[in-house]
Amino acid sequence: MEQTLIIFKPDAINRLLVGRILTRFEDKGLRVAALKLQQPPRAQVEKLYQVHRGEPFYESLVAFMTSGPVILAVLEGPAAIAVARNLLGATDGREAAAGTIRGDLGLDQRYNLVHASDGPDTARFEIDVFFRPEEIVSYERAGDRWIVSEG
Ligand code: CMP
Repeated sequence: MEQTLIIFKPDAINRLLVGRILTRFEDKGLRVAALKLQQPPRAQVEKLYQVHRGEPFYESLVAFMTSGPVILAVLEGPAAIAVARNLLGATDGREAAAGTIRGDLGLDQRYNLVHASDGPDTARFEIDVFFRPEEIVSYERAGDRWIVSEG
């Protein structure tokens, strides 16, 4: 079972899209292992986006991500990292395929609604930036055995 960090960015919150987007992940079968609304401290956002430091869009990206509360989630499931990124679509909503979250709901490269980890190492790192271990809950939903077959 793989875990990934998902962030509902301030544009998703201000456009009242959080419920609809969370439903897309839930409909796919991914399970919420942690969920919280938070005004993200600048230091945490800088850690999250440290690989983008120096890019021309870095400062405005950090300003955007600290402009209001975000909703942080840990989602889990088989291949959850790739599954979540496929659901999101390309970074720029103008290029994201129709049927993806960004393809259906966005038109911008910065205001792209949701962040999702891009690999196992970044997922572990990003989850640790925003969550303490005791905030991540291990449980089974009644329908899980109808979502993923055994063996
Ligand atoms: P995310 O998947 O969270 O990872 C880095 C973020 O930087 C990205 O989503 C966008 O919000 C933002 N971003 C990436 N490329 C650009 C760009 N060219 N101009 C502005 N913002 C960008």
